[in-house]
Amino acid sequence: MTSVLKEYRPPGNLTEYLPDPCEPIDRWFQARNASNVRTTVRIVRDLCPDADLFVDPLAGGGSSACAARLLGLPFFGIELDPLLACVCLAKSVAGPEDASTLPSRVDPDQPVASCLSVARRLSASTERPVSDGEMLADLEGGPNASAGSHVLWGDATQAAVWDELHEETRRAVLYTSPPFGFSSPRPEPHAWLRTEAELALTAAKAARSGTGPGTFPSYDQIASAVVFRAAQRFRRLTVILEHEPADDGSDSRVPTIRRLTESLGSRIRDVRVLECGVYSPRGLFSLIVFEVTQ
Ligand SMILES: C[S@@+](CC[C@H](N)C(=O)[O-])C[C@H]1O[C@@H](n2cnc3c(N)ncnc32)[C@H](O)[C@@H]1O
Repeated sequence: MTSVLKEYRPPGNLTEYLPDPCEPIDRWFQARNASNVRTTVRIVRDLCPDADLFVDPLAGGGSSACAARLLGLPFFGIELDPLLACVCLAKSVAGPEDASTLPSRVDPDQPVASCLSVARRLSASTERPVSDGEMLADLEGGPNASAGSHVLWGDATQAAVWDELHEETRRAVLYTSPPFGFSSPRPEPHAWLRTEAELALTAAKAARSGTGPGTFPSYDQIASAVVFRAAQRFRRLTVILEHEPADDGSDSRVPTIRRLTESLGSRIRDVRVLECGVYSPRGLFSLIVFEVTQ
């Protein structure tokens, strides 16, 4: 039984939906499909106030990593694209010491600073490049990285990449934004920088697989696969999935809930769809929310 709630906000307007280009740390590099960090913080505080771990298995360029930092929660992220994984790792674990010694090339002795350096060079290709001074100021003025935070470059639908998580009794919140469809922007090639990112991730011991799925799975396939993997690791989990219709207008909310109910059975309860508003040409933005229990 799924309840559909139409009165939930946030995001309540376009500003709360789009990433904020001035958000400290997050501003280093924002994927075009990134979420708004402060809105994510509000949603997690509202829906899972007692979380002690923030999990995002489709972590992209790290808006969730920034939200976890603001919430004071350790972050566990997985991302398939090496450039984004590198940015996400930097946003999740970097401290002022990493920004004060930015290497110009990957330095195996400074893996986090190397990821930060990749993020800065990626940012240099955008309209609003971040400076070394801004990076340092963000890290000196912002919340500290939480101990135990961890970002992996790998395929979150595969069991192996989850093997790093041993704390099975934690109260985790899984907040993620699965790709909404084929036109979800994918990272630009940046071939040479991609190689640097792979080297930095390897130095940071974050590399788990160099290749992703051969085909681009649908929203319901990828969302249900990553939740299933997380449910194997945690006894209690609050899941919050961002959803928008796909390119052809198809709605994946019901198929996703059906797939998850088939794979997790009675472990899923309190399924809610929170309808927030229309902020993109794709249509209604909503949150699929449920609990996974033992
Ligand atoms: C909508 S984006 C997430 C945006 C993110 N919140 C951010 O701040 O950038 C979805 C991400 O999932 C990643 N992804 C897709 N399939 C994946 C997989 N099997 N394992 C891990 N990451 C995957 C994509 O590369 C993409 O960066």
